Amino acid sequence: MIILKSRHEIEKMKISNRIVAGVLEEVIKKIRVGVTTIELDRLAESVILKKGGTPAFKGYRGYPNSLCISINEQVVHGIPSNRRLKEGDLVSIDLGVYHDGYYGDAAVTVGVGEITDEAKRLLDATQKALYIGIEKATAGNHLSDISNAVQMYVEGEGFSVVRAFVGHGIGTSLHEEPQVPNFGEAGKGPLLKSGMVLAIEPMVNAGVSDVDVLEDDWTVVTADGSLSAHFEHTVAITDNGVEILTKVASL
Ligand code: MF3
Ligand code: CO
Repeated sequence: MIILKSRHEIEKMKISNRIVAGVLEEVIKKIRVGVTTIELDRLAESVILKKGGTPAFKGYRGYPNSLCISINEQVVHGIPSNRRLKEGDLVSIDLGVYHDGYYGDAAVTVGVGEITDEAKRLLDATQKALYIGIEKATAGNHLSDISNAVQMYVEGEGFSVVRAFVGHGIGTSLHEEPQVPNFGEAGKGPLLKSGMVLAIEPMVNAGVSDVDVLEDDWTVVTADGSLSAHFEHTVAITDNGVEILTKVASL
């Protein structure tokens, strides 16, 4: 069942999601050569708590940290560690926050220093795919209109969409119905309605769409070792169109 949110609930979700966006801004500012991913995680956690939220991922199915940090061929769910960021790394940061009964969720990918032209193209295409998907998130469209628009754009750019992980509804749970795939035929699935809140999150690989999970049981990597990027926004479908609840001012 897809849970529709009232205007009042969407106002509450704006607060959780604004915390997500604000924390991501702080973390992005600290991304540079030599910083360890655990330092970024500690910073995120302290800013979340200062803003009155709780890290949503920490403890979720036993996940150990506040951020997922996925570097280069890592797609999603990379665990923060003592690994230091290097010039040219492509870094995806995913963050969930719980505040006053509601969840927020967003992800961004950024380059460390100078990145290759291919990495830049992948990053830009993934971010653009997210916005193309968001444009389709209007009442009266079908859910898979989002999925299809993302897939068509990404494949037109010569990249592939990950199929093993999908976006999701979000509200009083981090993951609610419906699943929001980044692929599929248009015109299928439930009709989108005012009051739906979705986390739309294209994961895009430079090579094949297949992924593997590392020995740590979390880190998802591309099967062919190619680069991967990930962008995510939580959006609300309203009578006045789609509202991005996790807008990051600097991106
Ligand atoms: N960010 C992921 C999502 O959007 C969830 C991360 S799962 C966790 O669904 F366990 F790492 F928290
Ligand atoms: Co998500």
